[in-house]
Amino acid sequence: MKKSVSIFIVFSLTVFFCFSCGTDVTKKTSIDSTSHQAGVPDEGKVLYSEKCSLCHGENGDLGSMGAANLVTSKINSAAVLAIMRDGKNGMRSFASDLNVEQLNAVAKYAELLRR
Ligand code: HEC
Repeated sequence: MKKSVSIFIVFSLTVFFCFSCGTDVTKKTSIDSTSHQAGVPDEGKVLYSEKCSLCHGENGDLGSMGAANLVTSKINSAAVLAIMRDGKNGMRSFASDLNVEQLNAVAKYAELLRR
């Protein structure tokens, strides 16, 4: 009697753990696939970290190498895109690194840093 009870407990614990592992994996996969589908904001963020954060910082207000503060920036989207495309003083052009879609994604992300 005692033995069968403990076998039952071990069995149900095993089932419980397998079940929770299973749901965890599914959850992770579905979050990953949605964020990839969303695309644009993610891409903008990744590219911003790669190309812009060195001078502007992850939050936009680092100001390294004389970079403008993107948090307090007031220029419109067209002007942001123009600076990224043509460069300005200490900032070089990013037209050869990023295609139009990527430029738009990064510009959008840069404007999200504003408060
Ligand atoms: C080498 C350092 C450097 C890098 C890398 C850099 N910037 Fe800049 N950025 C600057 C400097 C310096 C200025 C100020 C230019 C000026 O007005 O004289 C500036 C200005 C700007 C402005 C204008 C803000 C305003 O209100 O006038 C925007 C927008 C901007 N950068 C976005 C970006 C984005 C987006 C990236 C990445 C694709 C980037 N920058 C990468 C140095 C950099």
